[in-house]
Amino acid sequence: MLAIIQPKTYNFSIFYSVPAMGPKKIIPFNFMKTYLVTGGAGFIGSTFVLEALAQADCRVVNLDKLTYAGNLDNLKSIENDSRYFFHQGDICDRATVQALLNEHRPDAIINFAAESHVDRSIDSPGEFIHTNVLGTFELLEAARAYWQPLEGTERENFRFLHISTDEVYGALGETGFFTEETPYKPNSPYAASKASSDHLVRSYFKTFKLPVLTTNCSNNYGPRQFPEKLLPLMIHNCIKGKPLPVYGDGLQVRDWLYVEDHCRAVLQVLERGRPGQVYNIGGHNEKTNLDTVKTLCAIMDQEFPANAPHDSLIEFVADRPGHDRRYAIDASKIKNELGWTPQENFASGLSKTVQWYLSHSEWVERALSGAYRGERLGLESKTNEGSS
Ligand SMILES: NC(=O)c1ccc[n+]([C@@H]2O[C@H](COP(=O)([O-])OP(=O)(O)OC[C@H]3O[C@@H](n4cnc5c(N)ncnc54)[C@H](O)[C@@H]3O)[C@@H](O)[C@H]2O)c1
Repeated sequence: MLAIIQPKTYNFSIFYSVPAMGPKKIIPFNFMKTYLVTGGAGFIGSTFVLEALAQADCRVVNLDKLTYAGNLDNLKSIENDSRYFFHQGDICDRATVQALLNEHRPDAIINFAAESHVDRSIDSPGEFIHTNVLGTFELLEAARAYWQPLEGTERENFRFLHISTDEVYGALGETGFFTEETPYKPNSPYAASKASSDHLVRSYFKTFKLPVLTTNCSNNYGPRQFPEKLLPLMIHNCIKGKPLPVYGDGLQVRDWLYVEDHCRAVLQVLERGRPGQVYNIGGHNEKTNLDTVKTLCAIMDQEFPANAPHDSLIEFVADRPGHDRRYAIDASKIKNELGWTPQENFASGLSKTVQWYLSHSEWVERALSGAYRGERLGLESKTNEGSS
């Protein structure tokens, strides 16, 4: 499949066939786009790295600190791909970022790196401020220093794409949707740290003209999500016959999107989004947490009948402080401007997700035991709390 003629260089033509583009398609290596992806070992970042390498003529440099959420097991299938480079490092370390930028000369930075779990931000907010706010600032400064002296198309085509969340907008009432114009009203330390980073990103466009883009996406689900989050936690507990903890009355509404659909949207924004713009991404797929868990239980009854009926395992637990009642995204801007629409509906996406977890029990065990990073996390007690 690989047809590398020369070692990696920017001066010689090196050719590479991209499997997803057909066996005959040969791309000169020096025409490929290079993406610096941060947080590419996490849930969404790893899906993006896999998707980008499968779909596009690109090289990917993955900068990841490998916190508890960073799992190189996610990227085993491409670890020997010559278009992929991994560097363990922190986005807060400007010198490291600067060195990577100078070495790899990327066409774009895509910032997935973050502390992402709301419950953890309630227990200890400091790390969220550090990575999500200061880290984004350091990344922006490094990007600015790299981009400013560029010339011609290299300067014109450079992009800084910041991945954010719908949680920055706060909570909705029973009706209405978040648009790109909805005022920010973050309610958790996680949401506030992401909101701060979004403001910094915006300011670098307004003040320095750095060609930034921001995406605000709704709740993702799919393979490789760390088993502290709602759906992988519930799948795991269904398999083990353990209680399914649902916060409060379970009537909080979330707008679920399959992770690959999110990553395809990010690729579209990268290719054709207008610098300085914000794009909301969502699946128009509103469900209460209780409905989500019940739908999952019905799939588990079919796919893993041992503990059926799984909904008998549902237990209501004390609500999360500051729990937002409803999120729902108006994704008409990205649909109308860039032609993106999700390919999965909730039933098909959830079914794929369940199949993946059932056929990757080793991945789950390694994630829960900490074996993927050579340590033990003691997550079994932590996972008694649901989250979304
Ligand atoms: N999960 C969702 O439903 C969702 C929805 C919308 C937006 N987002 C956003 O998407 C991004 C990715 O989310 P996720 O669910 O994949 O998160 P995740 O927690 O699974 O992964 C985060 C990754 O970032 C890395 N990281 C953390 N701190 C770092 C640092 N200082 N330097 C370098 N790397 C660091 C971790 O090692 C990990 O690989 C986040 O910015 C999050 O706010 C997530």
